[in-house]
Amino acid sequence: MNIGKLTLQGKVLSAPLAGVSNRPFRVLAIKARAAMTYTEMVSSEGIIRNQTRTMEMMAIHQDEQPVGIQLFGAKPEVMKEAASITVEKIGPDLIDINFGCPVKKVVGRNGGAAVLKDLSLTEDIIKATVEGAGETPVTIKIRTGWDESCPVFEQVGKIAERAGAKAVTLHARSRAKGFSGSADWSAIRKLKQAVSIPVIGNGDVNTCRDAQRMLEETGCDAVMVGRAALGNPFIFKAMNDYLETGIRPDPPTVDEKIEMAQIHARLMVEQFGEEKGVVMMRRYLGWYVKGFRGASELRPKLFQVTTIADMNDLFAEYQRTW
Ligand SMILES: Cc1cc2nc3c(=O)[nH]c(=O)nc-3n(C[C@H](O)[C@H](O)[C@H](O)COP(=O)(O)O)c2cc1C
Repeated sequence: MNIGKLTLQGKVLSAPLAGVSNRPFRVLAIKARAAMTYTEMVSSEGIIRNQTRTMEMMAIHQDEQPVGIQLFGAKPEVMKEAASITVEKIGPDLIDINFGCPVKKVVGRNGGAAVLKDLSLTEDIIKATVEGAGETPVTIKIRTGWDESCPVFEQVGKIAERAGAKAVTLHARSRAKGFSGSADWSAIRKLKQAVSIPVIGNGDVNTCRDAQRMLEETGCDAVMVGRAALGNPFIFKAMNDYLETGIRPDPPTVDEKIEMAQIHARLMVEQFGEEKGVVMMRRYLGWYVKGFRGASELRPKLFQVTTIADMNDLFAEYQRTW
């Protein structure tokens, strides 16, 4: 699939995940053959103010590319300046605009999904970001609408295309639905029919078969996977292999998952230092051991580790006893 000048290898993308898709997560996703990764959403206001934490979240390296930086904001002129700074200082493969975030902190400042209530603002934001980004492709990520009564995804898709966006990702739920119920993939099909830029389908793609079914049922150009990749970077390779060969790879063994968790923890320590990195790693460890026999006993212990050595000891004990 091509997104403007960017060519992606494979049809399974790793979703932007606030508090999760930091550098270690992205490196593992790319190593596992995700076609693309995204940073956590970054505040456009934070960028133009050169806030340290914002700039740290945007730092990217070659080994996690192709990578998109996801921006949010409600002021076109700020988005333009933020896009321009992002391109100049960081040089991502693309800039994605978040029009889907339902979180109060973002929506309250009119960012994220709130923009779906004002389509002329949506258009202004996209146009401004495209202008600021210059040659770098701009994409958008949306939900179906603010709530069920007002689906705007087809309109927004057309607006985006007109305003110069190079692809649109649809998480096929309204803002009001949060993560409840199941995603309505028929919306993805409708969006695909409404626009000629690539459509990336998102929502409830949890298995290899789901990925294939979403591509077949909706005609979308690629799929994006979020929650199913938590503690499971293997999923990108499994899905890509399945889509290419029709063969479903064996699921990773417990030992392989533990080894991956240990690699992940080392990357977290490299990135954030041992004290902070290990504490941040605890929630990922909880995800890695999902489905393990005895996970309910192991998990609380993993949530207390403070060093890599603690974590390794716990895993070694687990491997000896289970
Ligand atoms: C913990 C978490 C953080 C998320 N953060 C973001 C974000 O920063 N930007 C965004 O566009 N979507 C965000 N999302 C939404 C996901 O990108 C994705 O659209 C959603 O999880 C549906 O896909 P899935 O069913 O594969 O998980 C987040 C979702 C979760 C669970």
